[in-house]
Amino acid sequence: MQTITILTGAGISAESGLGTFRSKDGIWAKYDLTKVATPEAFARDPEMVHEFYNLRREACAKAAPNAAHVALARLQREWPGEVVIVTQNVDDLHERAGASVLHMHGELMRARCSDCDHRWPAPAVMQISDPCPACGAAKARPDVVWFGEYPYFDDEISLAVRRSDLFAVIGSSGQVYPAAGYAGIAKRARIRTIEFNLKRTGGKFDQGRYGPATETVPFWVDEILRLPKE
Ligand code: APR
Repeated sequence: MQTITILTGAGISAESGLGTFRSKDGIWAKYDLTKVATPEAFARDPEMVHEFYNLRREACAKAAPNAAHVALARLQREWPGEVVIVTQNVDDLHERAGASVLHMHGELMRARCSDCDHRWPAPAVMQISDPCPACGAAKARPDVVWFGEYPYFDDEISLAVRRSDLFAVIGSSGQVYPAAGYAGIAKRARIRTIEFNLKRTGGKFDQGRYGPATETVPFWVDEILRLPKE
């Protein structure tokens, strides 16, 4: 039976009230990423970095999964083949909708020790002085992949894309690698590709569904779950 690999970006969480990054009022229009989302920024001013992620963690806790998150969790439950969901997002809305996902940019709701790499559930308000539960070092950071750091699961994701029959990208501008490169891997392997966005992103997809993800994704999931099972 067919395998479907899905890559999601900030656009799938936009209708849950969480900001995207590159729109005119996006996160990077409000914050200088070199001051809040790089290892150098954390070394220079950990309090500022923690404040940035504490605000996003608070917004995430107040947000709810939307119809697109719910539809993907349903697809993962009801599709007779495998559905691999990879997200660039650090929110936990996919999980709260019931899906299992690979967080290639880490997770806002998890903390990490900069000394021993131990991970633990992040408190609502994190600070650098939070002692690591494993080694006691006061080096707590959000378990989020910053610019200049390597994303998680890259090999596993590339393998999943290569063995898919369909690769879908939902709510991503396709500006950041390696995520932006997965569609190219699929195309070179002659795997069908489809994008879901408000507008065409310029990526060369076989198909596109344009409009709010809360409309296009549930409609698509309904459509393919009604397909005759091969
Ligand atoms: N429905 C569908 N698509 C949407 C919606 C919506 N309601 N709202 C916005 N979008 C689309 C936008 O048109 C845009 O193409 O979502 C995309 C969001 O793009 P970005 O803001 O660039 O977010 P993303 O692609 O996830 O960024 C990737 O960049 O800054 C880093 O680590 C950060 O994970 C992030 C990565």
